[in-house]
Amino acid sequence: MADATISASAAPVVGAALPHDSAQKHVTGRALYIDDMPEPPGLLHLAIGMSERAHARIVAMDFSAVLASPGVVAVLTAKDIPARNDVSPIMGDDPLFAEHEVLYHGQSLFAVAAETREAARRAVRFAKIDYEDLPAILTISDARAANARIEKSRSLTKGDTSAALSRSAHRIEGTLGIGGQDHFYLEGHIAMAVPGEDGDLTIYSSTQNPTETQLVIAHLLGKPAHAVVCEVRRMGGAFGGKETQSALIAAACALAAVKTGHAAKLRLDRDDDMILTGKRHDFETRYAIGVDADGRITAADIELASRCGYSADLSMAINDRAMFHADNAYFLPAANILSHRYRTNTVSNTAFRGFGGPQGMMVVERAMDAIAIRLGRDPLDIRKLNLYGPARDETPYGQRVEQHVIAELIDQLEESSSYRARRKAIHAWNSRSAHIKRGISLTPVKFGISFTATHLNQAGALVHVYQDGSVQLNHGGTEMGQGLMIKVAQVVAAEFGLPLSAIRIMPTSTAKVPNTSATAASAGTDLNGMAARNAAQTIKARLIGFIAQTYSIDEAEIRFANGVVHAGTTTIPFAQAASEAYFARVSLSATGYYKTPKIGWDREAGKGRPFFYYAWGAAVSEATINTLTGENRILRTDILHDCGKSLNPAIDLGQIEGGFIQGLGWLTSEELVFDDKGRLRTHAPSTYKIPTASDRPEMHIALFDNQNDEDSIYRSKAVGEPPLMLAISAFSAIYDAIAAVGDHSIPPHLDAPATPERVLAAINGVRGGPA
Ligand code: MTE
Ligand code: HPA
Ligand code: MOS
Repeated sequence: MADATISASAAPVVGAALPHDSAQKHVTGRALYIDDMPEPPGLLHLAIGMSERAHARIVAMDFSAVLASPGVVAVLTAKDIPARNDVSPIMGDDPLFAEHEVLYHGQSLFAVAAETREAARRAVRFAKIDYEDLPAILTISDARAANARIEKSRSLTKGDTSAALSRSAHRIEGTLGIGGQDHFYLEGHIAMAVPGEDGDLTIYSSTQNPTETQLVIAHLLGKPAHAVVCEVRRMGGAFGGKETQSALIAAACALAAVKTGHAAKLRLDRDDDMILTGKRHDFETRYAIGVDADGRITAADIELASRCGYSADLSMAINDRAMFHADNAYFLPAANILSHRYRTNTVSNTAFRGFGGPQGMMVVERAMDAIAIRLGRDPLDIRKLNLYGPARDETPYGQRVEQHVIAELIDQLEESSSYRARRKAIHAWNSRSAHIKRGISLTPVKFGISFTATHLNQAGALVHVYQDGSVQLNHGGTEMGQGLMIKVAQVVAAEFGLPLSAIRIMPTSTAKVPNTSATAASAGTDLNGMAARNAAQTIKARLIGFIAQTYSIDEAEIRFANGVVHAGTTTIPFAQAASEAYFARVSLSATGYYKTPKIGWDREAGKGRPFFYYAWGAAVSEATINTLTGENRILRTDILHDCGKSLNPAIDLGQIEGGFIQGLGWLTSEELVFDDKGRLRTHAPSTYKIPTASDRPEMHIALFDNQNDEDSIYRSKAVGEPPLMLAISAFSAIYDAIAAVGDHSIPPHLDAPATPERVLAAINGVRGGPA
């Protein structure tokens, strides 16, 4: 098709609203996911045996009935692991298979390898495990009482918060519970391991983190990293859920392949996926905010406590990011932000779009609405009064906000969404309507871009130009639907002056680009786009040197555009230039590298510059609630979002809409319920409610006209996570509708998610009844 002939086009490729490179393949079913790959002969299928207790000593495990079950080839336990029984990212506390003790209901105990997936799944249930129950810590309050933590509490402090609080005209206090969230990627966890010669292994994994997968497996098997290759063409969604926890699935396959000599595949069933793997952290929070007579914040005392689950995973960094976002877009003259990281006998919570940021922001946004009620003001006016601005630019961790666009962004959105007129209309509507109430809210987002673990802010690439002028693009980033591949391809196409069809997007492989970071922190394009451009520029410089010499022309007069190299008045088709360079023995392959400049901070002191820059946005949502049933829906959402100079507005608009809807699910309908035995009771779409197409409000999304002040790739800004937090506007709109029940004189108490039950309880609270 398009790529057989590489035709030139004059349209600029960077900044163009191009469809996702796999869009047609996605909708026609031709995009290959791991389960679509041809299966190697002799492939074995795995199933994981999971703990039925939240906390217990393993007394005995009897697999005789498992092994007798038809089609079963092997049972794998901790005893089969050649080197290190660990699949954790950092702390060494996530065994592939629990050996002596189980630490959560659903923990992996063993794997069955069988001839078919059904045979493996059937046999797994025949294991006889004897447990001796131990006391289980299930909730944040259990953990607080038992002082069970994954690390010490941490804090960010600025100024003398308690003195400022006591001097404040008003003091607004409250608590807020925030629920977790399952990733509910359409493609669940899956991996396939294929043994090669000399003990080598190739792992196909649905992972955001090929290098970590490679290293975890190498350590588990006692092999050098060079013996393990991890390849990822694409994931059917990841959302942070495949940053670390994909490693267990891949490691089980690798172990089975090594033990049996056969290729092995594991595709988790949806229920098992939800029970076995970690989620967004749920939080319990508390705040005391001082404000002056005008509603300006004078001090903020914020306490965050999260449920990390049985192991550390990424909880340190996630809770750090929650602290870094407890200010959201607001200047806090004095702040004390305290964060507790509790250990519980539940699944280990992990990265999820926003990485703790959303939970941190929710607290200060609740405070904004509560301040407005106390002062009898429109919440938007309170928010505007407290925004970061030129003389009010220092965050609680000492980084200064340098790009002051949020006030203007909000003004534009207020105007384009007719916020004031609609607020009036809603007020009138509410005064006429007894049972149905409406609410509206505008909330901003400021999101820090960079991995907070500074060393992760690096990326590599490998670009090949072939003799026919076609280009292969490899980099360390992985595609999960977010459009990373096409954005990086656009960058490379622009560098060579080639049409996009000249660039072949390759699967991500640790054999091509080593030592990469997870594709996460929204930084995929920022990092890999720069690394790929660096590689392309190296090749281009060699071509320029060669052409200048061959055609006796000044290097400055050589340009690459429209598939042609312009050398003064001579034009050379790119393919011809590549071919001539090859015959002249010029290398047409190069690696590229990038590391984010300017960043660095001191974790112990809680000070420094964790972020290269901030991405901004704001949303206005309008909600309606039924005060008799608590049912609610979002009628309309208007969004203005800052992608800097967008590399691809079509992709960015998709990320904004998708992120918002995912956030809407988190804050309204998705509820995780663990019972008193630590069992997850909501492990399928029958009981766990992600938004459906009919939950999507009428949406008006626009990109804010901006550019990155920092030297990012084409002055764009990262977009993957920030829009999720625009959904806080929907939660606030529901809150506003509840407040209307009490004429905006009583602050509702509403925890997230705003399920009908919680909305009803909040309404009862406003009416002075039992919550
Ligand atoms: N978009 C889609 N379609 N699928 C995903 O899994 N993950 C999100 C976001 N957008 C995700 C997505 C998360 S959690 C992150 S960190 C970024 O994409 C990662 O990709 P990027 O850095 O290339 O934006
Ligand atoms: N964001 C996402 N993933 C991460 C981060 C982060 O800040 N740090 C480590 N993994
Ligand atoms: Mo995204 S939570 O940083 O994978």
